[in-house]
Amino acid sequence: MKLKHLLASSLLAWGLSAQAAPMVIKFSHVVADSTPKGQAALKFKELAEKKLPGKVEVQVFPNSQLFGDGKEMEALALGDVQIIAPSLSKFGKYTKKLQVFDLPFLFKDIQAVDRFQHSKAGEALLHSMEKKGITGLGYLHNGMKQLSANKPLGNPSDAKGLKFRIQQSDVLEAQFRAVGANPQKLAFSEVYQALQTGVVDGQENTWSNIYSKKFYEVQQYIMESNHGLVDYMVIVNSKWWNGLPADIRKGLSEAMSEAIKFGNDAAFNEAAAFREKVIAAHKARVLPMNKDHLDAWRTAMKPVWKQFEGEIGPDLIQDAQKANN
Ligand code: LMR
Repeated sequence: MKLKHLLASSLLAWGLSAQAAPMVIKFSHVVADSTPKGQAALKFKELAEKKLPGKVEVQVFPNSQLFGDGKEMEALALGDVQIIAPSLSKFGKYTKKLQVFDLPFLFKDIQAVDRFQHSKAGEALLHSMEKKGITGLGYLHNGMKQLSANKPLGNPSDAKGLKFRIQQSDVLEAQFRAVGANPQKLAFSEVYQALQTGVVDGQENTWSNIYSKKFYEVQQYIMESNHGLVDYMVIVNSKWWNGLPADIRKGLSEAMSEAIKFGNDAAFNEAAAFREKVIAAHKARVLPMNKDHLDAWRTAMKPVWKQFEGEIGPDLIQDAQKANN
C-alpha cells in the first residue's frame, strides 16, 4: 500500500514536472529587433510556441546580448545556444564555399540573391557543413551593403589608406585591399565605437543595420554602392537537431520556414524605409553613385573573384551569376 502510494505520487510529480518544463530553445543574434533578422527571430518564437504549446519555450537574445560574433559558433557547438543566424560572411572557418556570397558586385540585387539561394546549388550549401556538425535550416535576407566613411567615396582611389571595419571574411579583406584601403575584422557590437573613436574610418553595411545601430551618427557620408550583400544562414547543431523528437523537429522546422518568409518580406519591403530614416536623421549625407563611379569600383574589385575562384569553385560562381538573369 505504501509502495503504491509512493509510486503514484512520484508518477504525479514526474507528470507535473514533465508538463511544467518545456524545452528551452535559445535563439541568439547580434542585430536589433527591428531588423529583418530581429523580426524573423521574434516571429519564430511566436510560431514555434503556438505550434508546440507547452513543449517548447523560445528565448530570443538580440544585440549580441548572449553571444556576439566569434563566440556564437562555439556556443552552438557546445549546446549553449540552439539557433543562430550568422551573416554568410562569417563562415570562413567552416566552409570556403559560402565565400561566393561575398564576391563584390556579383549579385545585381537581393532578388538575384534569392534566386541563387533557392537554386539547386544554393540549397546544397545549406548542407555543406554537416560534417562540421552544422545544419542550415534556411537563408534569411538582410540586404545590399552601402559603403560609409567620413569623406565621399566616388572613386575607388578615395578609399586609399582609409581603415574599414569588415566582418570575419577573407574575401572582404581582399576587397578593401584591392582599392588600397586597410580592412580590420571587428565584431559587429564594436563597430559604433570603432567609428566614433576613429579606430576605423569607414564600414559597409545594410540600411537596417546602419539605422538601427546609428552608424549614421558617426559617419559623414554613405555611398549608395549596393556593392555586396549581408544575408544569413539560420543554423543549428546537427546532433541536437537530429536528436529532437520528430514532432518537435517538424513543428520547429515549419515555424522556421514561416519565420524566414516573414523576415524576408521585411527585408524586401523595409530597406527603402530604413534608408529614408537615415536621410531624415540629417546626420550623414547619403550620396548616389553614378554608373561611371560604380564601374570604376567594380573594375578595381574584380581581381578578388580570381583570387578566390579556387576556394569557391568556378562552377558555383557561375551558378550565382546565372541568378542575375
Ligand atoms: C555585421 O557584422 O556587419 C553584420 O553582418 C551583422 C548582422 O548580423 O547583420
